[in-house]
Amino acid sequence: MSTDPDTTDADTDASPPDRIVDIVDEMTLEEKIDFVHGSYDPAELATGYVAGVDRLNVPSLSLVDGPMGIRAVPSTAFPASIALAATWDPDLAREFGEAIGEEARGADQDALLAPGFNIIRVPQCGRAFEYYSEDPYLNSRLAVGAVDGVQSAGVMATAKHYLANNQEADRHYVSAEIDERTLREIYLPAFEAAVREADVSSVMASYNRINGTYAPQHRRLLTEVLKDEWGFEGFVVSDWWATHDGVAAAEAGLDLDMPGMPVYDWQCHGSTFLDLVAALPDEAWFPKKDLAEFVSRPWQPANPNPNVLDESPFDDPLREAIEDGRLEESILDDKIRRILREMARFRVLDGEQPEGALDTPDHHDLARRIAERGTVLLQNDGDTLPLEGSERIALIGPHADEPKVGGGGSSEVDPTRATSPLDGVRGRLEIDGSVTFERGIEPVGDASMHDSPLPEIDTPWGENPRIEEAMRAAQDADVAVVVVRDLSSEGADRDLELPGAQNELIAAVAAVADRTVVVCNTAGMVTMPWLDAVDAVVETWYPGQEDGSALASVLFGDADPSGRLPVTFGERAADYPASSEAQYPGVGLEAEYSEGVFVGYRHFDAAEIDPVFPFGHGLSYAEFEYGGLSVETETETEGAADPESETHAGPTATLTLTVENVGDRPGRDVVQAYLAADSSVPRPPKELAAFEPVELESGESTTVELTIDERALAVYDEDDADWVVEDGAFEVLVGRSSRDIRARASLEA
Ligand code: GLC
Repeated sequence: MSTDPDTTDADTDASPPDRIVDIVDEMTLEEKIDFVHGSYDPAELATGYVAGVDRLNVPSLSLVDGPMGIRAVPSTAFPASIALAATWDPDLAREFGEAIGEEARGADQDALLAPGFNIIRVPQCGRAFEYYSEDPYLNSRLAVGAVDGVQSAGVMATAKHYLANNQEADRHYVSAEIDERTLREIYLPAFEAAVREADVSSVMASYNRINGTYAPQHRRLLTEVLKDEWGFEGFVVSDWWATHDGVAAAEAGLDLDMPGMPVYDWQCHGSTFLDLVAALPDEAWFPKKDLAEFVSRPWQPANPNPNVLDESPFDDPLREAIEDGRLEESILDDKIRRILREMARFRVLDGEQPEGALDTPDHHDLARRIAERGTVLLQNDGDTLPLEGSERIALIGPHADEPKVGGGGSSEVDPTRATSPLDGVRGRLEIDGSVTFERGIEPVGDASMHDSPLPEIDTPWGENPRIEEAMRAAQDADVAVVVVRDLSSEGADRDLELPGAQNELIAAVAAVADRTVVVCNTAGMVTMPWLDAVDAVVETWYPGQEDGSALASVLFGDADPSGRLPVTFGERAADYPASSEAQYPGVGLEAEYSEGVFVGYRHFDAAEIDPVFPFGHGLSYAEFEYGGLSVETETETEGAADPESETHAGPTATLTLTVENVGDRPGRDVVQAYLAADSSVPRPPKELAAFEPVELESGESTTVELTIDERALAVYDEDDADWVVEDGAFEVLVGRSSRDIRARASLEA
């Protein structure tokens, strides 16, 4: 009970639902308006902050980025989301979610603005490192795992960016033009699973338009699908300055506008010059807004959001609309109830939240395990890897003495420690091993959006490294390990070529080295003109703070490289489905998703294009054999799909097979099951329907069971506005990748 005589108790001892009703009833219109948009966080930690209502004992709500670590304070820098995806392990995603949730609580934050899981539709997507996959089923399983984990730590998770934020080019304006079936089968599933299976607390409305309407104002997606059809009871928060029309957004289903203030109020706390701007009286000789726009430019991405300099569209515009009757106050009340309900659910309202744990050794260990598990061994000619540790190693690369912590943008994390590839290799050498380090070429820089999304090419080292020195080091060594990186950032799409002279460096080293290993720190596919000239290629994505330690574990065989590609590595941009300008980046700010459901490997299969490395690909130091595949379908009486159930479909078939490790080392595999349908509508040649990671000692075998649910068999019928399982035969394809099928069986729907 409040002791402050000036406060009115909304009965703090009442049950949450009753207390919420009381609070909403007691709030003034002014208090309600302030509760549905962000404001300045006095602690200067939150990325988004909703001020509390002291008079009613309602605490504030702090929301913080991001998907790879807590932005507000020095914290554990976990591997990129795409590295987590490459583990194909929802349980590990859950363990990660719980850890990052504990970090958020450790930074005294209530909501995490993550996970992000937009479909990686094009390899150029600048935020591919922040997302999971090109495949909706893998995307959904990882999203559910991560959301479950975050929320198990007592932190609200945010499913972002709803919807179809699949490119950074023109992200604030472009319209994703998508047909209903493609929306349902490709772009909605992970958000549907996050709501229906993981009960996600909030959903972030994206910047872009979908079929012509900005996401924060998209009534069909925010209210009809998300809230009415899926039963979402949490709140929809806008991306930062994504709300254009406050009244339209309020009516469409947006519940909270962020950050709820102009950039010079939001950003100026970190910048003395912007502090000066903020301190200027409004009637200053040089209009405060124009000066702020001028000084905010360096911070702004190439095409800034038009609202970044405005007050919140959920402030005056909503107040005026309610006061003159254009907007029912009850619409505002629903928004507040949604936010308060989540604050009650996660114990923010009664202050009983868990303590959390920030930047702990356990989390550092988990970051290393994820980086190891997400490492994909793409090529390993002549069993070049693993190394013994007794070799003379030439470690080469413009940044091989730096960890590749992450990409640029709101996901950036400031770790308290990090190990570089050079640290990792040095720390793992045996007594007679050695390592020499050469940059070989000018640094290519790193990507940070806090200066600009276009990476600054800075050469802090002064010396002029030359390829000849790298070649000499390679000639004097038993093996050359060349570490290369791309530069991806929010706010700009990525090149598919390695930046700088990295391709030349690899080719020059490979020309003289006995054995050449290439380590790619990239956010996805890059062209590899040197591929035939090198012996091994390892994709480590953005490994986070434990970069060097995880890399050494894999290079020296302490850990099996058990990652599998969550995206297709094609040879060139033209091989990908969205290869016309109309499709990507779009013409006239409209991107035609005319490839429909044929995204990623679905296209490569249908068009019979051979990728360089297929979806699901990854080598192991072990060797696996599959056998004895059997399929058992669920009859109507045995727990088949229950159309009334929350999860809308039960298991419809169970696959059983044996997997044996016939190699001489322990290893992990990911058993993948695809379905090939004989359908009346155009369907991809195969679609991922189930998968299971397994870990086996040398000589060990196990029985793997995979369940296929009804949704995997179904197509979305636009005429029926529902999912339909057509009669007929399906073929089940079980393999180690989408192109390495080891067993087949038929399945009658
Ligand atoms: C950014 C991103 C979003 C992030 C938010 C707050 O522009 O799109 O992912 O959570 O703004 O930083």
